Amino acid sequence: MWELTRLSPDEFSRFRDFIYAETGICMQDGKVTLLSNRIRRRLKKLGIESFDDYYTRLTTGMLPNELEHFIDAVTTNETHFFRHASHFDWFQGPFLDDLIARARAGRHDRSLHVWSAACSSGDELYTLAMCLTEAAVRLSGWRLSLLGTDISETALAAARAAQYPRRSLEHVSSERLRKHFKVDASGEQWELRSHLRQMCEFRRHNLLQPLPGPRQDVVLVRNVMIYFDRESKKTAVRNLIKALAPGGFLVVGPADGIFDMLDGLEKQSTFIYRKPDV
Ligand SMILES: C[S@@+](CC[C@H](N)C(=O)[O-])C[C@H]1O[C@@H](n2cnc3c(N)ncnc32)[C@H](O)[C@@H]1O
Repeated sequence: MWELTRLSPDEFSRFRDFIYAETGICMQDGKVTLLSNRIRRRLKKLGIESFDDYYTRLTTGMLPNELEHFIDAVTTNETHFFRHASHFDWFQGPFLDDLIARARAGRHDRSLHVWSAACSSGDELYTLAMCLTEAAVRLSGWRLSLLGTDISETALAAARAAQYPRRSLEHVSSERLRKHFKVDASGEQWELRSHLRQMCEFRRHNLLQPLPGPRQDVVLVRNVMIYFDRESKKTAVRNLIKALAPGGFLVVGPADGIFDMLDGLEKQSTFIYRKPDV
């Protein structure tokens, strides 16, 4: 049946517009097979016979919670611990040194707010938590807030469950593995220990919306806007900058393509930008 093999050009364009409006993700024409395959899995699961019928039910809210499943099906959640390791060297070194010095000089209170924006299964935020535990002596008495957000509920559930396959941990040293994980009998599944899980909070958030709550000292936003067009990138960047505290840092991914949108920030290095302190 045509409908169940591949989206027609018209169907593809309707789903593409819907995805764009909901997430900012811009599906190129070349993604038609990928999108067809992913939506077909939802149809099979729900026993729906045509893409068209599924589109109508999805967009009119006739299928409870389907929007979440649909978003899960169309997002790419690839991530791992210590991805772009130099960002974590900077966080543990120059960033913490500067923050602690500012606190000593009375220019910052003894609190640190960190946000992993588009955190997927939590690997990025837990990597930051690991770095902070290693600086525990210097941060004694500090209030630490570590927030991970993502648009995908499945990704957030994985982050909260904190069980990882070996391949996510390739860049974690054996000492850190011993300290922070329990491995199952098969050697395949690694569970993060509770001392790190307790430090981190995960909640749903769309980068196209402002983040409510306190301003952040560091925001990592990496490998997500690669899927956005310019308009969505601009909206997300505006929201991210608004969420930064004065003197706070934005850490961006190498392929996110937002370097020319960061005018209001001071460039520290190719991937690290600072909001002017007041
Ligand atoms: C490839 S992962 C990147 C994970 C991590 N930041 C890293 O660099 O390893 C991209 C994540 O962005 C999320 N995402 C996509 N569109 C989003 C949006 N509009 N708001 C928030 N998260 C979004 C996806 O669900 C996915 O988990």
